[in-house]
Amino acid sequence: MERKAAAPAPSGPSGPVLGIESSCDETACAVLAPDGAILAEVLLSQIAEHAAFGGVVPEIAARAHLAALPRLAAACLREAGLGYNDLGAIAATAGPGLIGGLLVGTGFAKGAALAVHKPYLAINHLEAHALAARLPGLEHTQPAFPYLLLLLSGGHSQCILVEGVGRYRRLGTTLDDAAGEAFDKTAKLLGLPYPGGPALEACARTGAPDAYRLPRPLLHRAGCDFSFSGLKTAVALLVAAQPSGPLPAAQAADIAASFQAAVTDILADRLANALALCPAARTVVAAGGVAANAAIRSRLTAMCTEQAKAFIAPPLRLCTDNAVMVAWAAIERLRAGFADTLEAPCRPRWPLEAA
Ligand code: KG4
Ligand code: ZN
Repeated sequence: MERKAAAPAPSGPSGPVLGIESSCDETACAVLAPDGAILAEVLLSQIAEHAAFGGVVPEIAARAHLAALPRLAAACLREAGLGYNDLGAIAATAGPGLIGGLLVGTGFAKGAALAVHKPYLAINHLEAHALAARLPGLEHTQPAFPYLLLLLSGGHSQCILVEGVGRYRRLGTTLDDAAGEAFDKTAKLLGLPYPGGPALEACARTGAPDAYRLPRPLLHRAGCDFSFSGLKTAVALLVAAQPSGPLPAAQAADIAASFQAAVTDILADRLANALALCPAARTVVAAGGVAANAAIRSRLTAMCTEQAKAFIAPPLRLCTDNAVMVAWAAIERLRAGFADTLEAPCRPRWPLEAA
């Protein structure tokens, strides 16, 4: 189902935009001025609710969103000094993601939009990640279209050419696990706490990246697809071959560092192919939770510098899930003339090319 631009194209929202994010395990709200200035933002992580289960439990997530969202939205508007009537539009992540959370966020946004007669926007979560680097006021220059996007989150690993708002070309995707999922599963194997990515990065800090020679699936192959499950399995076999009981801290650090080095090599190799395929892209943007990883950031930065490309990784709080990016994507879409109706559905699966 392709969404069409409304005609005539409006110049943007008529007032501040409320954005809501509830597609996974963060409940977040943000209010942005029509020019993108952040007027207020609030975010509640559900890490504590899910930690005992070692991953996100969809039903618990949905209930937690439902319990938190009304007061979070009220707190966010209070912080901005605004009421619902002052808004120019209300936007919520409508997919991809966990259906329960999507229904809570979009249901709330639609109800508010209906009550105060404001436009509602159904935002694709991946599009929000893709456009976050263009938010004005960040330290880097706003990337011009077209740019390359490496979207590396818990649920997605994609290499995308961002040609414009609503114009995305997927160059590659993961054939199995997402990059963040690989970090989370490997961290679990090493006995590290959830969420695994940051814990694994911290653990790797004292380890040797060349201590273990782990596989690098698809390395030196054509294309921009990713594969991480063989790497995770190699770590599982390595851990299983050790004497029973917890891994000694030094060995866990060596395995973590070796795993991180393998992921970094895979990402650099895939990015090199993407850059060769898209010479018109002057900038590479890394987004999603894994883009918070310092080792990965520094390797991709060095690569881009070598090839005279700009490398942008938005500030960490904009790389991981947040509502600022949802409100910003709504502003970009309104400026580009896109509109949604209250009939717009939630879409647990929603490829970016269809956004
Ligand atoms: O984008 P995100 O916040 O949520 C979605 O999945 O949409 O990404 C979360 C993922 C998790 O898998 C988490 O372990 C990973 O990003 N992550 C990291 C780091 N921080 C978060 N992975 C590696 N290194 C990190 N520092
Ligand atoms: Zn995300």
